[in-house]
Amino acid sequence: MSNPLVPNWLTQLSEFDDNAWPASAKRNEFGELEIGEISSTELVRKYGSPLYVVDQHEFENRLQRVKKAFEASAASVGTTVKLYYASKALLTADIARWAAAEGYAIDVSTGGELAVVLAAGIPGQQIGLHGNNKSLVEIGRAVSNDVSAIVIDSEIEIERIASAAGAQDKVQPVRLRVNTGVHAHTHEYLATAREDQKFGIAIADVPALVEKIRSHSHLHFLGLHCHIGSQIFSVDGFVESAERMLNLHHTLLAGGPIPELNLGGGFGIAYVQSDQPMEIEDMVEKIINAVASKCNQLGIEIPKLAFEPGRVIAGPAGITLYTVGTTKEVVVSDEGPGAIRRYVSVDGGMSDNARPALYEAEYSAALASRPVSAPAVLSRVVGKHCESGDIVVKNTLLPLDVEVNDLLAVAATGAYCYSLSSNYNYLPRPAMVSVKAGRANVLVRAETEADLLSKDMGLGGQG
Ligand SMILES: Cc1ncc(COP(=O)(O)O)c(C=O)c1O
Repeated sequence: MSNPLVPNWLTQLSEFDDNAWPASAKRNEFGELEIGEISSTELVRKYGSPLYVVDQHEFENRLQRVKKAFEASAASVGTTVKLYYASKALLTADIARWAAAEGYAIDVSTGGELAVVLAAGIPGQQIGLHGNNKSLVEIGRAVSNDVSAIVIDSEIEIERIASAAGAQDKVQPVRLRVNTGVHAHTHEYLATAREDQKFGIAIADVPALVEKIRSHSHLHFLGLHCHIGSQIFSVDGFVESAERMLNLHHTLLAGGPIPELNLGGGFGIAYVQSDQPMEIEDMVEKIINAVASKCNQLGIEIPKLAFEPGRVIAGPAGITLYTVGTTKEVVVSDEGPGAIRRYVSVDGGMSDNARPALYEAEYSAALASRPVSAPAVLSRVVGKHCESGDIVVKNTLLPLDVEVNDLLAVAATGAYCYSLSSNYNYLPRPAMVSVKAGRANVLVRAETEADLLSKDMGLGGQG
């Protein structure tokens, strides 16, 4: 009997050659998932479960591939491009260093991210600062470290940055974030350029603010910035917003030179087998060609371009390993005959991956610790938190015999999982390891219960 709960797009077990998994993921001779030439069983034995695993080779390949795509397209229309790795996607000191080593600048959006990147030895000139509510301390620190750009998100920041730069007798390069009003086709909370949200300046207000920026001798106006959202598959929104930005850029040229245009990040990736994102090369070529033809139409020089990719680099490079604790079958009688969902509970959940709860994000899961032999059944992988929305993988097919102590792997958890993690229900955060050519390296150690208790002053924590 067929199961009416199975979504149409879910037609087969996720296997490691699906596009959501890193290229190195495969089953080894024992039928275990191997990644970066190390078996998942060995990784969990050594570093615990749950475990974030980052395939370093995949991450570096993606840095290179994305950069090559942007540089080739920019060169073909006679301009250059500066790439900022959007560190909010996934940040540790080593990850910042991998990005910097491939020639990326690093985009940070808080003092905390700035602190990690500076501590990793990345010079300010290779850092850009974002944020819709930067504190005076964050601004002062960015200015004193000579960051290559601060992106202004509201009018009050013009004075704040000018005064920090003035106090340090510096000229701070700045961009102005524009809300282009383009509706990117993504989850509402991932769309950052609709009119009714917190980021950026409305197009109509931009000329007055740019004039204000230009009036400050301690600010250098680099150009406009926009970011229309994240996990976007269609090129149309990027093209539409680039065209709107160039109309504005054109108008503002009357008041002085504008060397750059930053069009943000947002490029989508595959999470499940039915996701078919455009190849990054095609996406980038279409965006940059649209920029070139719009500049041509307006009769202006193509500015130097900047982009801020995050997810497209980090997302597919990471997986999470979990251990199964309990399983149960739930008959969903409202949905008709045959409506059965298998719940597989694992040892993590919304504290290590908040995206399903936050955005109803879908993921793919696969049995990692042994070969698949049993038939596939509709399964929902859930966490151990006290929330019914604590879902790790909403819809997936798993072998019927998945049982206690099996390892499951979830694909494409490299971006916005560790970054969004929490200690909800006092769960310590898992470790994150990188793997490459048979070697594993701890990027971030696992938190311990003692770490969590040490902050509680009622338990004698250090104040
Ligand atoms: C300003 C800005 N730039 C870049 C990014 C990176 O986006 P993505 O990871 O989708 O490429 C974000 C993320 O939302 C952002 O807010």
